[in-house]
Amino acid sequence: MKKDTQKLWGGRFTAPTDELVEEFTASINFDKRLYAEDIAGSMAHARMLGRQNIIPAADVEPIINGLQKIKAEIERGEFNFSVANEDIHMNIESRLSEIIGPEIAGRLHTGRSRNDQVALDLRLYLRAQLAQVEELIADLIRVLLDKAEAEITVIMPGFTHLQQAQPVLFAHHLLAYVEMFKRDSDRLSDCRKRLNLSPLGSGALAGSSFALDRQSVAEELGFSGITANSLDAVSDRDGVAEALFDFSLLMIHLSRFCEELVLWSSVQFNFITLSDSFCTGSSIMPQKKNPDVPELIRGKSGRVVGSLVNLLMTLKSLPLAYNKDMQEDKEPFFDALDTVVGSLRIMAPMIKEMRVNKEVMGRQAGAGFSTATEIADYLVRKGLPFRAAHEVVGKVVAFCEANELDLTELTLGQWLEFSQLFAEDLFTLLAPQDAVDAKDLYGGTATAQVLEQIRRLRSAFN
Ligand code: ARG
Repeated sequence: MKKDTQKLWGGRFTAPTDELVEEFTASINFDKRLYAEDIAGSMAHARMLGRQNIIPAADVEPIINGLQKIKAEIERGEFNFSVANEDIHMNIESRLSEIIGPEIAGRLHTGRSRNDQVALDLRLYLRAQLAQVEELIADLIRVLLDKAEAEITVIMPGFTHLQQAQPVLFAHHLLAYVEMFKRDSDRLSDCRKRLNLSPLGSGALAGSSFALDRQSVAEELGFSGITANSLDAVSDRDGVAEALFDFSLLMIHLSRFCEELVLWSSVQFNFITLSDSFCTGSSIMPQKKNPDVPELIRGKSGRVVGSLVNLLMTLKSLPLAYNKDMQEDKEPFFDALDTVVGSLRIMAPMIKEMRVNKEVMGRQAGAGFSTATEIADYLVRKGLPFRAAHEVVGKVVAFCEANELDLTELTLGQWLEFSQLFAEDLFTLLAPQDAVDAKDLYGGTATAQVLEQIRRLRSAFN
């Protein structure tokens, strides 16, 4: 039987790898995304090996130059990724061997395993990509703040149970999402801090018998420290899991927003008009303008949650330390990342271009007895216990419903039949704008409060 001389690990093998196995176990088709991180890690490792006299100092430069050349080849699209070389780590190493010869290239992997190598690559990749997502969230937040400020005079019905509740500023509603997205961004940045430790030097699982200078490698790669337990360092995928949770919650927030955009753009609501460039038509119904973009973001949120569950299930019950199962961490993460990036990129311009139908929202804000709570509060200020006030106003609403009247259509005489506490000043409470501006405490929907929140958020996202 022919010895599998092609493989970097072929020494103990007498039979070549079955082609199906090669195909099945390879990760190169997706982990090639880690090429830049893999090369950066190898460069830092090689330099340290030279500094520590673990490899001849003269070998460092050819290794670095070779790796640089490989990076350029990959970026020019000239690199020949091969399934026979299984993953990004071995694809790069075997190409290095072609370029600078096996004698020197063969020294690069001293004191290192693919287990700590892949853990390193992932940490570097996560660190960069999460920062990029935070930037995209900030872009979306800035668009929302602009919109909130531009539409500060728009009043809309606020809902609970999707039933008319109390009038709120449209800007206040938008800022509710800004708060969610801000937390999403904070979570990603926390996650980045936690994962910013170098696992190099953990070896396959036990550490290394070479005098590796772990700290200097960590510093060169911009880590804030080094991992403390070699077994943990090669088994840990917490950063990926956390990132996937953070992505999931971000997508859940987007899905709630998108659901509202879908509702609001319906003929029945008509609160907003999405730009034609963010909608599509129907192949059969000529009148249709479908909100495909928010629908798709809503749909894709399920996919991201699926990726989270996928990874958690992969990790569940895995014994220490590295297991090949862990190679399955990458595809769900990459897919979720692409989905999140794509959703955020399209969300910002869609919000920017959407038109707000002020008249419709304003009219609806006053419908459905939305200022009833204001009237109950009015009676409370005149001395009635809140429960009694609630009862009185409930009766007024029932009367109006039975007689197809709005609260604004009742005369003072009619009000007085329900309570002697009503007086002329009652009529300054019935407009939605009055109800809004009465909510003048921190976190409330009064215009002054909302403007204050816009100012605060702008300084956080300038
Ligand atoms: N491609 C592998 C992964 O992504 C790299 C680590 C492989 N290590 C091993 N001993 N097979 O997990």
